[in-house]
Amino acid sequence: MHHPINLFEYEHLAKEHLSQMALDYYSSGAWDEVTLRDNRAAFERVKLHPRMLVDVSDRYLNTSILGQSLKLPLLIAPMAFQCLAHPDGEVATALAAASAGVGMVLSTLATKTMEEVALPNSLQWFQLYIHKDRGLTRALVERANAVGYKAICLTVDAPVLGRRERDQRNQFTLPPGLHAANLATLNIPHAQGESGLFTYFAQQLNPAITWRDLEWLQSISPLPLVIKGILRGDDAVRAVEYGAKAIVVSNHGGRQLDGAIASLDALAAIVAAVDGRVEVLMDGGIRRGTDILKAIALGAKAVLIGRPVLWGLAVNGKAGVSHIISLLQHELDVAMALTGCPSLEDIDSSLVQLDLKS
Ligand code: FNR
Ligand code: LAC
Repeated sequence: MHHPINLFEYEHLAKEHLSQMALDYYSSGAWDEVTLRDNRAAFERVKLHPRMLVDVSDRYLNTSILGQSLKLPLLIAPMAFQCLAHPDGEVATALAAASAGVGMVLSTLATKTMEEVALPNSLQWFQLYIHKDRGLTRALVERANAVGYKAICLTVDAPVLGRRERDQRNQFTLPPGLHAANLATLNIPHAQGESGLFTYFAQQLNPAITWRDLEWLQSISPLPLVIKGILRGDDAVRAVEYGAKAIVVSNHGGRQLDGAIASLDALAAIVAAVDGRVEVLMDGGIRRGTDILKAIALGAKAVLIGRPVLWGLAVNGKAGVSHIISLLQHELDVAMALTGCPSLEDIDSSLVQLDLKS
């Protein structure tokens, strides 16, 4: 195939670079993958109402999140086990993100340590899974703070792991030589007839956590708290009341509850409920610059991308991730010009919902 010119072509190409077990793990959604598909379909359903005859000769794609500036309204979503795609794994992803001036969220289940990945001058957050072992959880938070991560991003949509049937069939586990590097004493098990990751979650993660645990988390962490995995306005309001500084509207890329609402469809109600008190981000199905524009028009301050980063990493390591980011940057830039938006502030809800009364 020729040099890929969009994210879908990277996805296609990545299949030649990944083991079947890794490809299935990366691409899967839960059960019938209805939510996985709907994350994309939701973007296709939203139609744009472009504004004409605006001077768009200069365009500004920069923004800030939690007070930190970004060249694009884009962060790389936390994704486990990136060394399945490329030996440099999360280190390559972090370097590509930092050189492009976008953010990165590092998974608890990374295959490189958070110390290896840390670039203290860039926007990096640490994604936390609260384990049953509170001491281990506390140690993760303390390490993230010590090496300069700027926020703790608590994922709340995974009290148990979603059922990805391809992983179950493959008895997903990590190949020899790879492990969850931040959790030196724990391993992803080899489970008979079962995804090892499903078993890991059942054994190690705490399904009992509730809103009250956010108080505990903030008592052990000086870092701002970001809550990832919210799909309802009332939960978003509670997250704000319990001290969250930002919210990520997400259904975990369709990997947790199949049948859950598409992230984009959940966004506007959450933005309305939060009413400007904290920044709202979203992820799930972002594959084009126009998708970023649509999410911003519906109230997101920025978006996160997941799987396309893994495709870029698999095809060409750090350079592949850099190319993925620059493709989205160019597409967003063109989309802004064509909708009459010189800056991100110009991307308002009238671009997606034309109010006929005004
Ligand atoms: C994820 N996601 C995820 N989320 C999280 O909070 N912690 C994690 O460790 C992981 N791991 C993970 C692995 C893989 C292979 C994927 C594909 C996803 C979910 C991720 O952060 C994000 O919500 C979705 O991937 C966004 O959807 P798209 O962009 O992949 O459609
Ligand atoms: C996943 C977990 C690790 O989606 O968040 O695979």
